Amino acid sequence: MATNYKSGLLALATIGLSTAGLSSCIATLKQDDATLAFYAQKVAPATTATTGIGAFTDTFYKFARANCAECHGASNTPLFAVDNVTSAYGVAKNNTYANFSNPSMSEFVSYAGNNHCGKAGCSGHSSEAEAAITAWAAVENAVAQNGGGNNGGDNGGVIGGGPQGGGANTGALVTTTLNLPANLSTNLTTYTAMRWSLDNLTPASALVKGAYFELEVQKFSATTYRVRYPKIVGLSGAVRITGIHVFAKAASDVGIGVEDIGAGDVWSTDVVTAAVVAKPNGYPASPTAPLALGTGTNQAPTLDSFSMIIGIRSNQDAFTVAFDKIETAVALQPTFASIDANILSTKCVSCHSTNNKNGGYSYSNYTDTLASVSKGNPGASRLYTSTTGTNPSMPTGSLKLTSAETGAISTWITNNAPNN
Ligand code: HEC
Ligand code: HEC
Repeated sequence: MATNYKSGLLALATIGLSTAGLSSCIATLKQDDATLAFYAQKVAPATTATTGIGAFTDTFYKFARANCAECHGASNTPLFAVDNVTSAYGVAKNNTYANFSNPSMSEFVSYAGNNHCGKAGCSGHSSEAEAAITAWAAVENAVAQNGGGNNGGDNGGVIGGGPQGGGANTGALVTTTLNLPANLSTNLTTYTAMRWSLDNLTPASALVKGAYFELEVQKFSATTYRVRYPKIVGLSGAVRITGIHVFAKAASDVGIGVEDIGAGDVWSTDVVTAAVVAKPNGYPASPTAPLALGTGTNQAPTLDSFSMIIGIRSNQDAFTVAFDKIETAVALQPTFASIDANILSTKCVSCHSTNNKNGGYSYSNYTDTLASVSKGNPGASRLYTSTTGTNPSMPTGSLKLTSAETGAISTWITNNAPNN
């Protein structure tokens, strides 16, 4: 099976272990409030600001001053990182560089990782930019919704009290913490499954009640794990998951000690639709231990076919997973409605709309979409060719489409691209 690594993750972030709280011994890892709040904070830096500019100052502005100011704080437009924060905010907000309804699709996020400046500032920083914009967006959205009254955006509130505490639906839903399976193989072709019951999410989500989340883990080296193939089974309806974060926590740590959390944001820019798939035969009622990877009908379906690397510094750890958002979804099918909901609206329209036709194309509606479609012939349709192959050019700034997604596009075009 081909193995694709998301670029940039080999650079291991070095985050010192927290020594706070070492006085209490921890035999079984439990999910305490401090841990949850810490994970949530890593997903989106907290801000207690109640205004857009306040939130910007606490989050994205800090990021931009550190990574982009050399050019966008001096002479290169857009000037979103200048000394004067009011002026920077005006530029950052009054353009379409930040996408408050879908932070991962922000142009800032792709430019923070696309190496357009040839310097360290604009490469490998997409996750960080996205986390900053997510926190900033929560406040902007709350202000827009409530005329300025709500102090949204505090992610501690999201974890504690559900989306309303954050003012917008950008909170992290966090799984329980699971110890890594003992004796992980050092054979680099062998992965072991880990399973989380999604009944135990904090805050709970009715959309995934009864379902299980799995991923495969490998001991890649003495200091590194590799994870791949997140899967979900037992859903009662299709769900769309935005942002999957896998966090490693050293077993010797208590409380909030976490290693290389930045590299844990491996699927943070992804939006995936998990279709309804029954639990494979042989799933124990309660997932107390990782199940051997199934085969045939026991094989859990792949939610996303990319392999990822998590670089961590010890090999005796536990994983916690967080999801930015879980919503109902239209199941992926070869129809325009499904392709639009699952792919075009979520992964293309931020850069290809009627008013902003990058490369000359828009995916705002059916008629616009036909401009890059040759009915009956996927191979002659740029919608298909730009998103397919080993190194597709689209979408920029996030993972390539899955084979299920390009398959749906191909079948729809082969069927003469009806408006269905
Ligand atoms: C060394 C200089 C330099 C640094 C550092 C830099 N940029 Fe840029 N940036 C440029 C130049 C030059 C352009 C215009 C050419 C282009 O679009 O590639 C640009 C263009 C952009 C654009 C496109 C604006 C448009 O009108 O479409 C965005 C967005 C952007 N940069 C974001 C960032 C972010 C975010 C960072 C920091 C993470 C960053 N840049 C760091 C030089 C830089
Ligand atoms: C972050 C911004 C961004 C996203 C997201 C994005 N595009 Fe693009 N796209 C561009 C830009 C910029 C261009 C023009 C420059 C180029 O051709 O590389 C472009 C060009 C294109 C082109 C014409 C060039 C070609 O490769 O054939 C097609 C077709 C296209 N995009 C399709 C898509 C589709 C389909 C999606 C969603 C799956 C998507 N794009 C997502 C920014 C984006």
